Amino acid sequence: QAVHVLNGPNLNLLGAREPEIYGDATLAAIEARLGAVCKRRGIALHFRQSNHEGDLVTWVQEAGLAGEPVILNAGAYTHTSVALQDAIKGARTKVIEVHLSNVHARERFRHHSFVSPVAQGVIQGFGALSYDLALEALLAGAGPSES
Ligand code: DQA
Repeated sequence: QAVHVLNGPNLNLLGAREPEIYGDATLAAIEARLGAVCKRRGIALHFRQSNHEGDLVTWVQEAGLAGEPVILNAGAYTHTSVALQDAIKGARTKVIEVHLSNVHARERFRHHSFVSPVAQGVIQGFGALSYDLALEALLAGAGPSES
């Protein structure tokens, strides 16, 4: 059993980047916390970050081929990437969309997500905790796309 947590552009700078919006936690700290939960459950965690759209597409494809679920914070590609939506559509696995910030409380250009229509669900606005909640939802096996 494995879970993929995929992070998009600029999330490598978490902790230093606009902390008033995204909080103080670094991506490494989030990875460590999720890693501890997965370890207790005997689940492998593939935690990745890239600033390149194609990397995210490839990783979604890989998770799909393996039939392993994905927690995806696509960063700004959330609002722009048809390629990512297509990858998720083609992947035979569930994807939970996460955001640290509540994108609907922010600029208009963040209100549209190419990921949401093809995600099982969306968790946003809880800072780093959004990731923990997404993992919790996955591990609980919740939702209509449960297979
Ligand atoms: C984000 C929200 C996006 O709008 C933004 O481009 C990000 C981070 C979030 O986690 O709140 O890079 O995905």
